[in-house]
Amino acid sequence: MTVLEKLLHPTPAANFVRDIQGRHFLHHRGAGATLASLLGEEYTHRDFFTELAAPGYDGRAVTATFFEGRVLRGGEGKPRSFEVKPGQAETAFRAGLSVIGDMVSPAALRLAAHLRRDLNHTGELMIAGSLSPGGDAFHAHIDPVDSFKIQVEGRKRWFVSPAPILDFPTRAAALRDNGTLFFPASEPDDWERLQGLDASNSVEIVLEPGDILYVPPGMVHATEADGMSFSVDIGFLPASPFSFLRKILDPVLEAEPTWRHMPASIARDGRLPREVREHLAARISELRAALDAIDLDGPEVNRIWQRAVANPGDKVRAALAANRPQAGGIQPESELAVTEYAPVAHAWTPDESGEPAIDVYQAESHLSVPGAGAGFLRRVLEEGRFRASDASSFAPVEPPLPWEDVAPYLAMLGEQGLIAEARR
Ligand SMILES: [Fe+2]
Repeated sequence: MTVLEKLLHPTPAANFVRDIQGRHFLHHRGAGATLASLLGEEYTHRDFFTELAAPGYDGRAVTATFFEGRVLRGGEGKPRSFEVKPGQAETAFRAGLSVIGDMVSPAALRLAAHLRRDLNHTGELMIAGSLSPGGDAFHAHIDPVDSFKIQVEGRKRWFVSPAPILDFPTRAAALRDNGTLFFPASEPDDWERLQGLDASNSVEIVLEPGDILYVPPGMVHATEADGMSFSVDIGFLPASPFSFLRKILDPVLEAEPTWRHMPASIARDGRLPREVREHLAARISELRAALDAIDLDGPEVNRIWQRAVANPGDKVRAALAANRPQAGGIQPESELAVTEYAPVAHAWTPDESGEPAIDVYQAESHLSVPGAGAGFLRRVLEEGRFRASDASSFAPVEPPLPWEDVAPYLAMLGEQGLIAEARR
């Protein structure tokens, strides 16, 4: 079962993606996918504090929030938030503040990275612990993230709008009493200027330990914690198609010096300088040609997309890579499995000569194999778990490869961290 299937159970993942994702919230009461069962170990708010207080996380910020009374609506009456150092999170909580901070637990990061891969999300991953002392409430607001809330300890009351009020917002905003959105950092763009918003038709949901709540981007939500509550929030920022196109175009365009600078100019007559205009005109025509040259059925676009799916962001990827399993000796009777220390994605594409080729991405490692070895490697990924000697028949050749030929290949995959002795 994938992380997504465990989280959604009993809703089938295909139904979720087709009917719910991005459109409706989904609440599962105690369906079995507790945080402990997902992580394979108990995890409480004490672990959250202990991990944050460990050395090495001083660069991270934890938001502590002070609440004056109940502030369910009205962006103007916002609670006051400030940042504390990770090591001060517990002190802030004991002083009666709500605390929201990045989770740094390797097990939790792995879980979130696998969920991201299960959903083929190519956007940024966020995972935060959210701790309320009780008696606090968070005002109605919208977020840009596609998010899964896992209630771990205590209860939390949620108020969620029946549908998103804004499709795929790019930033968070609070709902004002006058029915408009309040953006804390800057004025709204035209498409963000909504009016007549009303949070009174929100649905009330009480999350208890073991409950899961999915909230799509743009959904109005507010929370209230009567008593102490700890939840883990895994979210993904939707990726913009433009940023994906840049991954394709940047390596092509940036090879040219003209794409690495804007022209010098000393004009100051209030018009667009002639040099700038000419430079941009030339770049726009090159960009048109570069866009037309993108082959969506070719191997390169697929490789870039698969790599984006397997890469949960540099910080998370580095944390996952630190737990890469050590390669061990592989015997014919060894029971092997594709490792799960980091999600795997692969691109199956013919190379220029029409030969099959496979590219496998997992955390820091990238394996590119053409020819008959590609078929072998694809079979390894499909099997997931297998006896080493059975791999003799994995390559699409007759007769099956002798063990002497298979053993070094399996050893190489072990060195890469892609396969390891299966846990019994
Ligand atoms: Fe939120």
